[in-house]
Amino acid sequence: MARVLVTARLPGHSTERLAADHDLTYRDVDAPMPRDDLLVRVAGVDAVVAVLVDRVDAELLDAAGSQLRVVANVAVGYDNVDLAACAERDVVVTNTPGVLTDATADIAMALVLMTTRGLGAAERRVRTGEPWGWSLTGHLGTSLRGRTLGIVGPGAIGLATARRAKAFGMEILLTGRSEPDRRAVEGLGALVVGLPEVLRESDVVSLHCPLTPETRHLIAADELRAMKRTAHLVNTSRGPVVDEGALVAALESGEIAGAGLDVYEEEPHVHPGLLQRDDVVLLPHVGSATVETRSAMADLAVDNVLAVLSGGDPLSPVRG
Ligand code: DGY
Repeated sequence: MARVLVTARLPGHSTERLAADHDLTYRDVDAPMPRDDLLVRVAGVDAVVAVLVDRVDAELLDAAGSQLRVVANVAVGYDNVDLAACAERDVVVTNTPGVLTDATADIAMALVLMTTRGLGAAERRVRTGEPWGWSLTGHLGTSLRGRTLGIVGPGAIGLATARRAKAFGMEILLTGRSEPDRRAVEGLGALVVGLPEVLRESDVVSLHCPLTPETRHLIAADELRAMKRTAHLVNTSRGPVVDEGALVAALESGEIAGAGLDVYEEEPHVHPGLLQRDDVVLLPHVGSATVETRSAMADLAVDNVLAVLSGGDPLSPVRG
C-alpha cells in the first residue's frame, strides 16, 4: 500500500479519498509542519501533499527516499519547490492552477479599491474610536473610472483581475514574460507593453507574476521611482517580487501614493516600516482563502496524487 504524507490540515473531505486505499499520515494541524518533524515524517513516503510554506528541496527529497513519486503542492505558486532537484529524482511536481483564479483576482481587486480609497485607514479610524464626522473633504480617495491598471504577469489571475477592473471603468495595460492570450487582450481592449511603460503610465500596478530568480525584486527602488507619484502598487503574487525596504522608502518619500499587499518578503514577518503607515493596506496572504477555493485546491492536489500513484498522468503537472 502506497504511503502518503499530508503536511497540514486540508479543507473539505479530500483526505478521505487518500485514506481509502493508501497508508495516510495526515497532520490535521493548521500551522506549518516544523522542519525537523517534516524531515522525519517524510521518510519512506510515496507522495507528499505539501503547502506553500513547506520547503521541498534536495534535503527533503533525500530524507523521503527514492520511492517518492509525487509532490502535490496545494498552491498555484511553487517557488517553495526545487524543481531541478525533483526532476533529478524523477519526482513529479503538481500545483493547483485554475481553481483559485477568481478568489485571488477578487482579493487583488479588493486591494485596488482599498488602497485607492484609503479604506484601511478609514476602517481603523472608526474601529479605534478616533473622533470622526462626515465632511465634504474627509477621507478623499481617487476614482477608478478612466484610470489605468497595469497588470504585471497577465496569466489567468492577472487577466481575471483586469476583467474586474474593466468593469470598474479602468483602462488596462499588460506586461509579462510571455504573450497573453490574444482573445483576452482584445476582449479587454488592453495594450500589451513593456514594464517601463506599465510603470510610467499606470495609476495602479498589480503584480501577478510567479516568483522566479528573474522576478525577485522585479519592483525595487528604480521601478518605484518610475511610477507616478499618485500611483498605487498591489501585490497578490509573492512577497519577494517587491523589495519591501525600497517600497517603504518610496512611500516615505512620496514617490508613490499607496500600496495594497497580500504577500510579504519574509512571511509572516511584515516590514515594520509598512506596519506604521496609513497609506498601505496589509492582508495576511488570503488571496485564495475561500471555503470553496481552498477545498477545490485540496481536491486537485489529492486528484494529482491519486493519478500518479495509480500510474496515470497528473492533472496539473508543473513543468520545470
Ligand atoms: C497560491 O496558490 O500560490 C496562493 O498564494 C495560495 O493562496
